[in-house]
Amino acid sequence: MVKLRMEAIILSGGFGTRLRPLTYTRAKSLLPIMNKPMISYLIEMLPDTVDTVILAANYKKHQLEEYFERSNTDKTIIVNDEPKPLGTGGAVKFAEKYLTDEFFVLNSDIICSLNLSDMIAFHRKHNAVATISLWPVENVSEFGVAEIQENGNITKFVEKPKQEDAPSNLINAGAYFLESSILDYIETGRLISMEKEIFPQIITDTERFYGYQFKGYWMDIGRIRSYLDIHQYLLTKQNENNHLGKNLLNNGTLNKTVVGNDVIIGKNSKIEKSIILDNAIIEDNTFISHSVIGENSTVCSKSQLSGVVVGDNEQIGTNTIEENKLFWTQEIPKEFPKKQIGNVIGG
Ligand code: GDD
Ligand code: MG
Repeated sequence: MVKLRMEAIILSGGFGTRLRPLTYTRAKSLLPIMNKPMISYLIEMLPDTVDTVILAANYKKHQLEEYFERSNTDKTIIVNDEPKPLGTGGAVKFAEKYLTDEFFVLNSDIICSLNLSDMIAFHRKHNAVATISLWPVENVSEFGVAEIQENGNITKFVEKPKQEDAPSNLINAGAYFLESSILDYIETGRLISMEKEIFPQIITDTERFYGYQFKGYWMDIGRIRSYLDIHQYLLTKQNENNHLGKNLLNNGTLNKTVVGNDVIIGKNSKIEKSIILDNAIIEDNTFISHSVIGENSTVCSKSQLSGVVVGDNEQIGTNTIEENKLFWTQEIPKEFPKKQIGNVIGG
């Protein structure tokens, strides 16, 4: 029988605490990568069989609604507005009303070469109830880690273990293909972590939980460091020295830098390995490296910034010399968590 509909849930509700101050003003999944919102990479990754995308959202959900009103995609996009953050598991349960049968779940902060059609084929071949994508890393302590048998069967899953307690070097790469029976494991209306509470239970109960490994590249864009790294990776991959938006007025020198639209760069200014977002102004005689300059922000002349993140709509005064610093002088959104919480609601 040919299945007519398939859904993908994109978990886009985290605050992006590790990406602040850039996330004080925007939904994490709208953060531009090479001048294109992170979420559009995930939508492009979906196979044709997926016709409906459910964005599990809460923080800054209106921005997502506005973005999809303007953008063109052949898939139906539903912004599923969580009344309060429900965690990765709760958000999946909250999307239940839109699900017809098997479905994908994707973390919104990953960029990778995973082929989701191949993953479905793997899932079917093993008659799995759940298949999660896996990627090898050296330091697993920031991720979910799988103990896996030779045939791909996962026998244990631990979220963010200490390095010495990790069952392998294969981490949860943040894309799942799930049978609808999985939904019965998740309670309604409660903050639930898919990784901490639901995965271990499915493994024990069904013994049909599988891990799909793939080749190519994978990056988690949950942190400023990885946000900078993905740009360096994509510049090299696309064989570009710089990647420039529209209407750039450039009187300086750029190296390994990504520049958004309508940016002005002054005389004798030098920018390397950095990201300059839309409408930013970099005045004369400025040196910027390994930094992110937010939208509508100005870096005044003779400043030297290295490893710095300037939030949107900020002004950095003349002669500022700073290293490894986050710049934010405006009010922090009330709903933003006071500290980083990880994959329950923070990240
Ligand atoms: N709708 C909704 N509601 N989404 C949420 C919520 C919530 O309450 N909390 C987090 N999310 C979203 C985040 O925006 C992100 O896309 C995804 O769920 C995972 O949450 P993160 O906070 O980014 O988790 P993490 O990076 O610490 O760990 C996760 O990703 C790793 C791979 O990048 C886990 O899935 C790990 O097991 C995994 O290895
Ligand atoms: Mg993350």
